[in-house]
Amino acid sequence: MKTVRFGIIGAGLMGREFASAAARWCQLSKIDVKPQLVAICDKNPAIYDWYKQNFPDIKLYTDDHHKLLDCAEVEAVYAAVPHNLHQAVYGDIISAGKHLMGEKPFGIDLAANTAILDIARANPRVFVRCSSQMPFYPAVQKVGQIIESGQLGQIIEVETGFLHSSDMDVTKPINWKRMIEINGEYGVLGDLGMHACHVPFRAGWRPRNVRAVLSDIVKTRPDGKGGMAPCKTWDNGILLCEMEDPATEQIFPWTFKSFRIAPGEKNTWYVRVYGTKTSVRFTTKNPKLLEIMVYKQGEEQVWQQIDMGMDTAFASITGGIFEFGFSDAVQQMWAGFLYELHHGKPITPFAGCVKLEEAAMSHRLFTAALKSQRENSVVTL
Ligand SMILES: NC(=O)c1ccc[n+]([C@@H]2O[C@H](COP(=O)([O-])OP(=O)(O)OC[C@H]3O[C@@H](n4cnc5c(N)ncnc54)[C@H](O)[C@@H]3O)[C@@H](O)[C@H]2O)c1
Repeated sequence: MKTVRFGIIGAGLMGREFASAAARWCQLSKIDVKPQLVAICDKNPAIYDWYKQNFPDIKLYTDDHHKLLDCAEVEAVYAAVPHNLHQAVYGDIISAGKHLMGEKPFGIDLAANTAILDIARANPRVFVRCSSQMPFYPAVQKVGQIIESGQLGQIIEVETGFLHSSDMDVTKPINWKRMIEINGEYGVLGDLGMHACHVPFRAGWRPRNVRAVLSDIVKTRPDGKGGMAPCKTWDNGILLCEMEDPATEQIFPWTFKSFRIAPGEKNTWYVRVYGTKTSVRFTTKNPKLLEIMVYKQGEEQVWQQIDMGMDTAFASITGGIFEFGFSDAVQQMWAGFLYELHHGKPITPFAGCVKLEEAAMSHRLFTAALKSQRENSVVTL
């Protein structure tokens, strides 16, 4: 078993998810590589307590990410900091020769993303990926296999999306994710958009153009100090793209939704791919259910429903009929990162983390989407 020693920069919500996935690595039954947490960096020292209680072996706590990067023991870093820090922090990590899993959107805007990618190109021995865990749901792994198999026939339409209702409550005080200077001009596209891009981009499909309709529904929020603060980030985004599959030269519509204000939805990620021969659809609203329709000319159209169990990309000790959840997806994604770091390629194409060119394509798309919204036009990519 190969061990990769990790530091976390930005040890908040997502930092803890990684730490917890690493702590229960014995869940995975066959993988030959594992993470070990050795250093934590966060500006908020109150966050250290949870790590100290649960990870007594962590040697370094610091509020200065340069100190973490100076630590020779740290071989790889998970960076989960606010978007305005991605460029500086990710650049420093890669320049220090540490492997990086960076959170999306991987730069606050296209310029920041390009700067990070330039540094990555100059350091080809450093392994760099962007986080996106939802495709590791067993049903989505199966969707990936169906896409790869060529069983779809001609693609009629693709729909993907990520729907939250975290901002339905207008009395919720503003935090950094709703501040344009920290979260970025993309707003919800930068926050949730990568999740909706991962499967189509991994399938090799490329957006040719985009028409965006973005909504700023809540314009002010309590500032937490008794007053109100402007909330300038886009709450919801719908993108309609003409999509191209360069492998087959097919062109088809892709509808993308990323919503912070979707009534009734908490963390609903979905994918629907409709083809002339086979169609598939899945939503985390009903996380065990995968629906497939295989159409035979002239015959009845019948959706088959499959109860997915733990049919994970990386084998686990959990019984095959048992349920899979968000924390499992995070752990499977980390297995995907470590497997590819150790073996030089993903175990299967859809069990690999987001590549730099895929993150860059999401930035080109979101930048074009902002232009489309501004100009009320269709923007060519
Ligand atoms: N993959 C997912 O599903 C998912 C979910 C939520 C957030 N995210 C992404 O993760 C990243 C972090 O989001 P979060 O929800 O964990 O935020 P968070 O606010 O919970 O955590 C961010 C942490 O960074 C720390 N921090 C701020 N400045 C720092 C600095 N200069 N050096 C070190 N630490 C610093 C903060 O103190 C905080 O603890 C963002 O890029 C976000 O888009 C991903």
